[in-house]
Amino acid sequence: MRDVVIIGTGQTPVGELWEKSLRHLAHDAIMPALADAGVERPDALYVGNMLSGQLVGQEHLGALIADFVGLRGIEAMKVEAACGSGAAALRVGLMAVASGMHDVVLVCGVEKMTDTLGDFTTSALATAADQEYEVSQGVSFVALNALLMRRYMYEYKVPKEDFAAFTINAHRNGANNPYAMFRSPITQKAYAQASMIADPINLMDSSPVCDGAACVVLASADLFRSRAKARILASAVATDSLAVHDRRNPLVLDAVAESSHRAYVQAQITPADIHFFEVHDAFSIMAALSLEAAGFAPCGAGVRLASEGEIAIGGRLPIATMGGLKARGHPVGATGIYQVVEAVQQLTGNAGANQVQGCSIGMTQNIGGSGATVITHILGAI
Ligand code: COA
Repeated sequence: MRDVVIIGTGQTPVGELWEKSLRHLAHDAIMPALADAGVERPDALYVGNMLSGQLVGQEHLGALIADFVGLRGIEAMKVEAACGSGAAALRVGLMAVASGMHDVVLVCGVEKMTDTLGDFTTSALATAADQEYEVSQGVSFVALNALLMRRYMYEYKVPKEDFAAFTINAHRNGANNPYAMFRSPITQKAYAQASMIADPINLMDSSPVCDGAACVVLASADLFRSRAKARILASAVATDSLAVHDRRNPLVLDAVAESSHRAYVQAQITPADIHFFEVHDAFSIMAALSLEAAGFAPCGAGVRLASEGEIAIGGRLPIATMGGLKARGHPVGATGIYQVVEAVQQLTGNAGANQVQGCSIGMTQNIGGSGATVITHILGAI
């Protein structure tokens, strides 16, 4: 296998981008990434996307986007793994370059979620859960996460207000990120007063519905060493049952544990060597469970890591350093690529006010469903 590096990145602001179509969003992330990499014609394009068929009425994104950005003729295809689609596309691109099949590939995550009515979007998102055993009972993704959060609060005697630390951290970091959807810090009081979505999940526990696109250019380290911005030290995928009730213990995300473990083994490091973690904080409960299963806190102590300030920039393990899914936003199929773009910002010292000083190893983790597909990447500075 060949070593793979990232040589270019691009991203659009995240938000309700009604004036941009899906293909325009992809274009607006791809063109700066190609310019950044100094590449005109990559060997292939892999598109991470979850919902274009349902929310835009458009599939076949590989050929569509390749043509729209002036790359007609190259290999191009869409990769889907629910909210983990972005990192899944990255994984496919990485395998193509590492195997020697291609030398330079473009990976773009793109999602357009805000042109449809809320109920319709919620139903589309729920197609990533188990249709026969979960969705047919009427649960949405927010509801599934609410069940997990309630169980967590009961099992570990954690008061709801302690979860606020995740949201406060994410919004504080998002405030300094020009690409973030939410750029206002929030207080403990604002968290307490936020409207309830699915008890105990309130508006401030939940990532938003939004649009966005992000892109990275991957290349063989041997051929593009002088342009490298970051190295990919590990890439690992693990899966679990779609249905939460089929799991050994609903409060232990086994696929997070397995995916993280495989990544640590590949990179030959332990969790203690990670300098920052772009966690999949689609809901504050997901952030807590991920921190625990990935080995950063014992079971039941993930929330404490947050409430004791360890997840802030300057803390023991900064997370969601550019706002995370909560404040930067969660355009589902694009999220995994945003995480990697932000990790490159950190590793190249370009994270501005949110810079994690002296960082050289970062981890990104993108989750599909309520923990059914978990894709972990570990990146290293050059
Ligand atoms: N955090 C903070 N503010 C939010 C927000 C969020 N997650 N979502 C919406 N808002 C704000 C909007 O900016 C808007 O503010 P304004 O009135 O000042 O303009 C206000 O709340 C209402 O926005 P709206 O879009 O009408 O919200 P909504 O009630 O339709 O939707 C949720 C809110 C939480 C239900 C929706 O964002 C949601 O379903 N999120 C979960 C998405 C999901 O499941 N993703 C997959 C995860 S795996």
